[in-house]
Amino acid sequence: MDEARERYHIQTYGCQMNEHDSEVLAGILEQEGLVEAEDITEAGVVLVNTCCVRESAEQRILGELGRLKLLKYKNPDVVMGVCGCMVMNDDSLQEIRRRASHVDFVIGTNQLHRLPEFLQRARKERQLLVERDRVHDVLPTDLPRRRASGVRAWVPIIYGCDNYCAYCIVPYVRGPERSRPPEGVVDDVRKLAADGVREITLLGQNVNSYGHDLQRDMNFADLLEVVDGIPGIRWIRYTTSHPRDYSHELVERIAELDSVCEHFHLPVQSGSDRILQQMNRGYTRAQYLDLINHIRAVHPHSAITTDVIVGFPGETEEDFCATYSLFERVRFDNAFSFLYSPRSGTRAAQLPGQVSREVRGERLDRLNQLQHGISLECNRPLEGEELTVLVDGPSERDASVMRGRTRTNKLVLLPEAGDWENQFVRARIERAEPYQLIGHVTGGDEN
Ligand code: SAH
Ligand code: SF4
Ligand code: F3S
Repeated sequence: MDEARERYHIQTYGCQMNEHDSEVLAGILEQEGLVEAEDITEAGVVLVNTCCVRESAEQRILGELGRLKLLKYKNPDVVMGVCGCMVMNDDSLQEIRRRASHVDFVIGTNQLHRLPEFLQRARKERQLLVERDRVHDVLPTDLPRRRASGVRAWVPIIYGCDNYCAYCIVPYVRGPERSRPPEGVVDDVRKLAADGVREITLLGQNVNSYGHDLQRDMNFADLLEVVDGIPGIRWIRYTTSHPRDYSHELVERIAELDSVCEHFHLPVQSGSDRILQQMNRGYTRAQYLDLINHIRAVHPHSAITTDVIVGFPGETEEDFCATYSLFERVRFDNAFSFLYSPRSGTRAAQLPGQVSREVRGERLDRLNQLQHGISLECNRPLEGEELTVLVDGPSERDASVMRGRTRTNKLVLLPEAGDWENQFVRARIERAEPYQLIGHVTGGDEN
């Protein structure tokens, strides 16, 4: 590594959109001549890319910012920047100002392209610089990007969210929905394919509403079809889908697109119609179950996963039981369960009947316990099967174990498979656990 070049370190919290944004931030810094630090203590520029979707995320980030104070104390020349969703929320920003006087600049989610200017100014001006223009008219296309993986890549297709689910802060911090023109998406995917990428994930808070704001007849299924035709890309994923906007037609069209993976992530949020209505989700339990049935009929070998919130204001034991029974009925492959977290400025934060921490925690435990058993039962039949896996890289816990994913997005651990990094392999599954499969490589799979 070039000793003379300045180093940077980026810490990322939150969803895939933030991970993607961090790749853009890294790309911009590298264009400015910086290189990634092996250790944060070597870095001359430290960025924290934040999330405010739940209070627990914010607390963790504020704690981390507190620890970074020591770094700044030891080396006052380090430039520290905070970006991401917390910056766009007034209360969170105030908290950053109060707890992190050592931060040099703060930039909003739609100002990433101005990072070089802020670095320069931060070095000259010794006061907190804040830039978080709420005008969301510049789509951050054509920015450089430094990808973390060689074969997988994120591709944003729609920014922001118009849904205003009653509990959610995202529409306030990410602005209104704006679809990227399909040419930009296709161009991006072509370049990635030429660069060796084999799997892409199309990103948006609600990918199913793609295209409604474009001046032409183009929806998400049309976009998938176009991207499916791009040579080199073998697997296409997308996240996140909104069940309300996931049409039966889309389920059927996906069956005709070879590259689109059979993994359906459909956040249900609650199994109670009363709560779904309060949440402003726009579908009923019956409509959700109907969609699941249709997916299972058209894609019998698919995996279905979900997000759920436990303890939304006014949730009674009966409402919770409706969620519990929906889980028993659907038998999700996996579920991300969250304790409801009040977010200031959202409608739900004002609702009466906030559920106590104890009750929320107890319900979450019950649901997790149920899901644990179901996830294991979903994975068990895979023991002895041979599956195609895209091998990512070493697992964080043990560098001799490679990790990869199946088309259905199951995590597979492959001990001693180092030679297969970044390749498609066939893997025999030896053991199933609730949240991962353990197997061994039987050969390459380059079709
Ligand atoms: N746009 C995506 C992702 C939103 S955030 C979607 O619609 O699914 C990811 C998940 O966080 C959501 O699905 C929801 O389950 C959870 N979440 C959002 N706000 C929350 C809150 N205030 N408290 C608890 N969980 C929340
Ligand atoms: Fe939040 Fe709902 Fe938008 Fe998802 S769809 S980001 S949960 S408001
Ligand atoms: Fe968090 Fe922002 Fe994503 S609030 S979940 S990082 S859009």
